[in-house]
Amino acid sequence: MNPEMNSGLDQASLALAARAQDHVNSDRLATAIATLARFGGRDDGGVARQTLTPIDLEARAWLVAQARALGCEVFIDNCANLFFRRPGKEALPAVLTGSHVDTQPVGGKLDGAYGVLAGLEVIAALNDAGIQTRRPVEVVVWTNEEGSRFGPGTMGSSAYVNPGLLQGYRASTDGSGASFGDALDVALAAAGDLPRRAGPEAAAAFIELHIEQGPVLEAAGTPLGVVTGIQSVRWYRVQCTGVAAHAGTTPMDIRNDAMATAISLAQKLYAFVAGEAASNMKLTLGRWHVDPNSINTIPGKVEFTIDVRCLDESVLVRFDQQLHGWIDTHARRDGISLECFFSRTPTTFPQAMLQVVERGCVRACSQAGLAPPLRLTSGAFHDAMYLADHCPTAMIFTPSKAGISHNAAEDTDQHELYLGAQALAHVVTELANQ
Ligand code: GLV
Ligand code: MN
Ligand code: MN
Repeated sequence: MNPEMNSGLDQASLALAARAQDHVNSDRLATAIATLARFGGRDDGGVARQTLTPIDLEARAWLVAQARALGCEVFIDNCANLFFRRPGKEALPAVLTGSHVDTQPVGGKLDGAYGVLAGLEVIAALNDAGIQTRRPVEVVVWTNEEGSRFGPGTMGSSAYVNPGLLQGYRASTDGSGASFGDALDVALAAAGDLPRRAGPEAAAAFIELHIEQGPVLEAAGTPLGVVTGIQSVRWYRVQCTGVAAHAGTTPMDIRNDAMATAISLAQKLYAFVAGEAASNMKLTLGRWHVDPNSINTIPGKVEFTIDVRCLDESVLVRFDQQLHGWIDTHARRDGISLECFFSRTPTTFPQAMLQVVERGCVRACSQAGLAPPLRLTSGAFHDAMYLADHCPTAMIFTPSKAGISHNAAEDTDQHELYLGAQALAHVVTELANQ
């Protein structure tokens, strides 16, 4: 399907999209969000449901039951991505929607889960409205979007688009040494009754609804965002090797302190980013392992991760060159090694898809008497980033309170979540009738 061919807008198809939008049920969506949040729910309101953990598998089984209750056929693939299919009138490539249900070690109840549950809400709305779309509609649950347990992120969606990646992903290990491959085999065995898809299927489009996870929409006072693209990202692992020794007896001038090496590099990284303030580059050194991690032993080994993001890819290219330069200088003297294990250039969604998204968002906002949608780029990465290589893709954002996410306090007004699902229903129905 080519959304550009839709320039002579089909009024009958827009009427169906409006009808689907009007059948979205806010209470049903809120109940689904609250129910899924119980899988891994924490006392502070957050959710701990890292990918392929036992609680994640329970959540997936619950989702499969929900999808079946809505009349969907359910499939799984070799990366344990789940597909909930509502058949269309014709055997054409489907319109895909969805997101992920894995969370950060301490995440919120909306990051990812909202897009999946809103997708199921769209199917419920289509059922209630008695609409049979021309194309099938599929809600997808992508495996391991977060990348916090097994790196990199967006494993499921990238392996879907490029199945050759899966073999390498299988070797990725979590903090306890368990491999993604072993966790995946357990997940696939637990879903042994589901028909297995051998590889990617042609898709008409992918549309992902997600919370913004940043402050832009809230500040703009609009409930919906039309996402024009996603900034570039790179993840690195740095390993500094020194010699563990006694904290009280080893003179400062003869120490080989892995932490001193790591901190000196970290200071250079922060200085680089300070010099790039105009580009709005972001740097996060989020995970540290110190060995032996003892108050009175000089660290013998320090490993830390680097997450850098920027809309301007050339900034990350410069950062990469600079980083390699520093590592080369230090490698001989200080024993530093560097591995880049995730790198993605910026994603730009096609204009024709943005127009479809804009129509759904404009109608939802104006029916609610609220400000029209804002166009913005995504600071977070998403599964849509890889789907954009596979089919026409776009995203819709709803605001995040105080811009907070990857935090138990992550929150969005129920009415805004409803409007996001309404916009999604419009977009999915319009695309599924092309
Ligand atoms: C996704 O979770 C990201 O880190 O952007
Ligand atoms: Mn997410
Ligand atoms: Mn996330």
